[in-house]
Amino acid sequence: MSRILIVDDNDTLGSGVVLMLQRMGHEGVAVTSGPEGLERLKAQPYDLVITDYRMDEMNGLQVLEAVKVQSPETDIMMMTAHGTIEIAVEAMKLGAVDFISKPFPYDELRLKIEKVLEFQAARRASERLGEQNRYLREEIDGRYNFGEIIGEAEQMHSILAAVRKVAATDSSVLIYGESGTGKELVARAVHYQSNRSEGAFVKVNCGALPAELVESELFGHEKGAFTSAIRQKKGKFELAEGGTIFLDEIGDVPLETQVKLLRVLQEKQYDRVGGEQTLDADVRIVAATNRPLKQMVEKGAFREDLFYRLEVIPLYLPPLRERRGDIPLLVEHFMVKKCEEMNITLKRLTDEAMMGLARYPWPGNVRELENVIERTIVLSDGEQVDYQDLPLIFDEVPVDRERQGTGGSIALNERLDEMERDLIARAMDEANHVKTKAASLLGIKTSALYYKLDKYGLE
Ligand SMILES: Nc1ncnc2c1ncn2[C@@H]1O[C@H](COP(=O)(O)OP(=O)(O)OP(=O)(O)O)[C@@H](O)[C@H]1O
Ligand SMILES: [Mg+2]
Repeated sequence: MSRILIVDDNDTLGSGVVLMLQRMGHEGVAVTSGPEGLERLKAQPYDLVITDYRMDEMNGLQVLEAVKVQSPETDIMMMTAHGTIEIAVEAMKLGAVDFISKPFPYDELRLKIEKVLEFQAARRASERLGEQNRYLREEIDGRYNFGEIIGEAEQMHSILAAVRKVAATDSSVLIYGESGTGKELVARAVHYQSNRSEGAFVKVNCGALPAELVESELFGHEKGAFTSAIRQKKGKFELAEGGTIFLDEIGDVPLETQVKLLRVLQEKQYDRVGGEQTLDADVRIVAATNRPLKQMVEKGAFREDLFYRLEVIPLYLPPLRERRGDIPLLVEHFMVKKCEEMNITLKRLTDEAMMGLARYPWPGNVRELENVIERTIVLSDGEQVDYQDLPLIFDEVPVDRERQGTGGSIALNERLDEMERDLIARAMDEANHVKTKAASLLGIKTSALYYKLDKYGLE
């Protein structure tokens, strides 16, 4: 049984749909305005919102956007009047799962709802799997691929020695270092050299934790604990059970969240949000920051008690410019690595190019160096890399682009194709089969439209 909310100022239509939903075995609620719908959504979770476009106060697109923010797990279907293809297109762009044009026979709506709910169930199942897979994959990547820590500088030797020593304990480790100095690499080394290496290494990007969701992210929640808690969810501490939790960017954690962290570090216990039983936290804490935490404590921006819990063993990673002797080693290391990854013959740097790299200040440290090498390999022709092949780096720091996993399943692609086909067919109708006009309704090039008409056999 799913819960569905209808938003339409025409209450006859609303109650008709509610009846139909009941017969389908679902629970339907009809309201007559956007604000009213959002109120309902605040009180209880819904799997699907079906909203009309033309309404006073809020139109359907505004409802859509508000629902997306308020309840990301809820799907949205748009009802549009005939002749408003642009709104259907806009709704799809903003993330609606489907649309239906008015007037429609109930059967058409019923089929669409069935499809959306089916797809939703599949998506939720695959998200659950994906969540598990991601951790598995991260673990495998981490275990076999966390890579060598390169560095012959004195500072690096003492860090590696400290990592070996601390790995044997369960003490909390706090890693300081500018951006790109290898904090995560060292955190992984601590984990994989420890006797917790069979457990998971779970990274928490503290800077990106939304304040309202902190507890649920860290400690998990029970089904129904709050409006959008449609199912039980494990928190990061639970996922890291028996392993290591890596609190990245710990200096960015707001004070109110610091209290919550303090409790689990002190008591080694936590509760899922909405949970009855208290769970034990069998995890080692490794935290990292590029900010001067001690100074933040003095200024009152970071809790002193939390600071002392975290900084049992401090490790300071030096910026690359303070260990320039390691630059040639790192360059060599990344040249080999990147050429192998890209499957090309190893390129060589001229002495001048190497000197250029050794002189550069590297504000983005090792990460920047890695990016520069990768870029140079891609951009330079031939097997030799000359000083001229590198000039960019002196006037421009490469952007740090986080690599993002490409998700998406076959089901999703099929579904998108189906919706695209539908939109195109409608646009062609509305444009009386004048292709240039249909293309402009859809906001695509006419050539693209030709291609798609052919692809979907719509001619
Ligand atoms: N000593 C090193 N030897 C080899 N590779 C390194 C070294 N230090 C860093 N790297 C590589 O540089 C990149 C950045 O390192 P990492 O992500 O650990 O840095 P960070 O300090 O966490 O950076 P940020 O603050 O930007 O998150 C990674 O690809 C890492 O493998
Ligand atoms: Mg990092």
